[in-house]
Amino acid sequence: MRRFLLLAHRVPPSGAFTLNDLAGGAGRMDEVARAVSTALTLSNDLRRDTEVTVLFIAQPPPAARRIDVVGARVRYLNPDERSTAALLKNALVRSVGHPEPFESSPGLRVSAADPVEALGAFVRQPGAVWLTEGGAPIGSYEPPAGEWAAVLSDPYDPTEAEAELLRASGVPRLSVGPRSLRSSQVIDLAHAALDAREPPAGARSGGDEGTGRPAAERVANGPGA
Ligand SMILES: C[S@@+](CC[C@H](N)C(=O)[O-])C[C@H]1O[C@@H](n2cnc3c(N)ncnc32)[C@H](O)[C@@H]1O
Repeated sequence: MRRFLLLAHRVPPSGAFTLNDLAGGAGRMDEVARAVSTALTLSNDLRRDTEVTVLFIAQPPPAARRIDVVGARVRYLNPDERSTAALLKNALVRSVGHPEPFESSPGLRVSAADPVEALGAFVRQPGAVWLTEGGAPIGSYEPPAGEWAAVLSDPYDPTEAEAELLRASGVPRLSVGPRSLRSSQVIDLAHAALDAREPPAGARSGGDEGTGRPAAERVANGPGA
C-alpha cells in the first residue's frame, strides 16, 4: 500500500473559499488538489493501491480537518484540479459543525483532526518516510514489504513544530532530486521510483496495478485523462 500525507497549511478548513481563486484566497488549494489528483490517477485509470490524507491545519482544533481519499473506492475523481478542489471543498463545507467522520462522497472521508496526533500516528506506520529536499536519494530506500507512508508539505514549509515531530520520529528523510519541487511533482517522482521497483505490467497476473481485474473493467471505472 502507498500512502501520502499532505500538510495543507493555508486552505481554510471550513471550505470557505471560491473555486475561482484556488491559488489565492483558497490558500493554494490548487496545489493541494493537484497533489491529490496526481497521487491517485494514472492515464485512464486510478491508483487503487494508494491512499491520500490531507491535513487542513490553517486553524487549530476544533476547526482543523482531515480528508482521507481511498484509491480503491474513490468515485468522481477527475484529473483536473478544479473538480478535485470541488470534491474536497464539498467535504470541508459539509463537515462544519460535524466533527465525526463521514463519507462526503464515495471513497472520501472527512473528520475533525488533531494535527499533531494525526501526523504522529501517520509516521508510526510501517514504511513511514519524510519527503524533503535535504533527504537521502529515494532510489537508495527499500520500502519494507512494499509499505510506503510518505509525509510532504504543501507550498509552505512544515512549521517548526511539525519538523520537530518528524525529526523526533526518526523516519528516513528522502529526496526525489536536488531541486525544491512542487508537492505534486514530488508525488509523481515518488510513484515513478516505486513503480520502477515493481514487475513489468506484462508479468503481473490478471491485469496491472495489482487489481486482478481485466483492463476493460478498470478503464470503465477509472477517470478520463
Ligand atoms: C514546494 S515545496 C515547499 C516549499 C519549498 N521548501 C520552498 O522553498 O518554497 C513542497 C514540499 O515538497 C517536498 N519536496 C520538495 N522538493 C523535494 C525534493 N527535491 N525531494 C523531496 N521532497 C521534496 C517537501 O515536502 C516540501 O515541503
